[in-house]
Amino acid sequence: MNIGQALSSVLWTLAAFCAATLLAYSALAEEGVPAEVGEPLPAWEQGWLEIHHINTGRGDAAFFILPDGTTMLFDAGDLSDGARPEGYIPPRRPDDSRPAGEWIGRYILARHPREDEAALDYAVMSHFHQDHIAGLADVAELLPIHALLDREGSVERAKEAYGAFVEEHIDRGMRMEKFEAGRDDQLVLRHDPSAFPEFKVRNLAVNAEAWTGAGHKTRPRFSEGETIPSEENTLSTAFVMRYGDFAYFNGGDLQEPMEKAIAWVTGPVDVHVANHHGSQAHPFFLAALRPRVHIVEVWAVIQPRPHVFERLFDDSIYPGPRDVFLTNGLWPGRAEHFLERYDERVADLIDDYTVELGQKYVEYYMPKTASSQGHVVVRVEPGGELYHVAVLDDTEESFEVRSVHGPYTSRPPAPK
Ligand SMILES: [Fe+2]
Ligand SMILES: [Zn+2]
Repeated sequence: MNIGQALSSVLWTLAAFCAATLLAYSALAEEGVPAEVGEPLPAWEQGWLEIHHINTGRGDAAFFILPDGTTMLFDAGDLSDGARPEGYIPPRRPDDSRPAGEWIGRYILARHPREDEAALDYAVMSHFHQDHIAGLADVAELLPIHALLDREGSVERAKEAYGAFVEEHIDRGMRMEKFEAGRDDQLVLRHDPSAFPEFKVRNLAVNAEAWTGAGHKTRPRFSEGETIPSEENTLSTAFVMRYGDFAYFNGGDLQEPMEKAIAWVTGPVDVHVANHHGSQAHPFFLAALRPRVHIVEVWAVIQPRPHVFERLFDDSIYPGPRDVFLTNGLWPGRAEHFLERYDERVADLIDDYTVELGQKYVEYYMPKTASSQGHVVVRVEPGGELYHVAVLDDTEESFEVRSVHGPYTSRPPAPK
């Protein structure tokens, strides 16, 4: 081999090495990109914000993996099947072999960024109703909780509401905290906050106190002695999570008076979880938030309420496209129940209910949803500029992607 040949061979080797490195790099870079339909959801990666709305058919549970790997659970619902009429509630997901809280815990363990030392940095309970909290004890059996927050922050109340585990976990180092409206320094990144200065959670409301938009200041929505409608729901915690231009709202079972109180300080958001399983969503609130994506956590025939379902699609409230995701849609017997067996009771509950509206609900709005069954996962790319929604099969623990929506571009925040 002469010098020319040797040089060319070195160059070729170098070129091949570069190409291989580039390939390996692009394969790596692609890992966080939307999974394909029929494939399992790719694992979370540093810099991504993932929000998993876990469907058990028995209440709300949202599992958050924040950009630095901090984890948070917002609600852990379960409901006894009780004396509900047949067809009123959806089937348990994945199936009825385990309680909802255990399914939630297993889901978290499977998706957790730190498999060997999986824990919840935060568990935040929106309010003291079973469809939001009754699964927490089963979750706590499976993984430790570092901080438990609710609208009271009282150990006594927590023991009574969630179970004896509270005391044991406190002995092992769990903090019990009151969720405080107005604060943006309570739910913070725990592992590498300086790497993600553009990530922030603002607490908007709790106990019918609303953030004013100034500092950490709040004001009460009701004056002393005034009756608070649907009280426990109205007292729910609410927050907005921002990552760059991306914004996400979740307010548990918040009611209309509180929606109106926080609309302007919430501002436009990209993703809106409809309050109280889609029984609220006042037009004023929707017009202020103008979400691109609506998520409704459904566990009953009347969720979302027919007039709210209409509103979510109504572009006279705010213009532009929007995608609606339900965790449960037309489970077996639901339409019949809604249209025939249950219509009188629904008519009592909902002033403007008619059989025609019920028909429109099932035949027109339901097919217009982007997805009406499965775990709804919001995946925000590093920096927050782009996000997509992946819907996962909820009939087994495969995390198989059923559909992918987006990518959506996050919208710039409202002017200050
Ligand atoms: Fe609820
Ligand atoms: Zn409630």
